[in-house]
Amino acid sequence: MTVQDLGAQPAELLEAAAVLLVDHFDEPGGWREMRSPREEVTNVLKERFALAAMEDGFLQGWIGGLPQYTGRVWELHPLVVHRACRLRGIGRALVAAFEEEVRHRGAHTITLGTDDHTGMTSLSAVDLYDDLPGKLAALRDLGRKHPSFFTRG
Ligand SMILES: CC(C)(COP(=O)(O)OP(=O)(O)OC[C@H]1O[C@@H](n2cnc3c(N)ncnc32)[C@H](O)[C@@H]1OP(=O)(O)O)[C@@H](O)C(=O)NCCC(=O)NCCS
Repeated sequence: MTVQDLGAQPAELLEAAAVLLVDHFDEPGGWREMRSPREEVTNVLKERFALAAMEDGFLQGWIGGLPQYTGRVWELHPLVVHRACRLRGIGRALVAAFEEEVRHRGAHTITLGTDDHTGMTSLSAVDLYDDLPGKLAALRDLGRKHPSFFTRG
């Protein structure tokens, strides 16, 4: 597997990047139809950058970045790995390449968000204003492997 510039790939791979957002971002809830993922890929490539995990011409996953605070802060968005390629270190390799890229671009800080509106973690359906630090300290997966437990290593 190699990590390459997604923007330098042919149109069919950009389409494959949009398909990953719809078909392989099942939980915690990604994109439902193709129009907005196509816009998402276009916008990421126009305003930011995106890196592709490639194996023999096949797009295994991709990661994008969104600059904030004049590029001192970068939001990691999105990150997706094809379901058939998971748990092989591809997500970790994409995050490492992302970190290297934003470091070159002057980043001091990386942020990311991950949703849970389908009851995947102990933070779902609770009052987050009641002892948030305690709830964060006790955060646990409820059995469906929420991506917040993905580790950069
Ligand atoms: C989250 C995601 C990108 C992980 O990609 P991946 O290629 O499977 O991750 P890696 O193989 O690099 O895993 C790195 C480590 O995290 C762990 N890990 C990965 N996903 C995990 C999960 N859902 N829950 C717990 N641990 C996880 C792996 O076991 C590995 O740990 P180890 O080295 O100690 O064994 C992938 O599952 C995905 O695309 N999910 C759907 C989209 C999504 O949720 N994106 C993030 C939304 S914010």
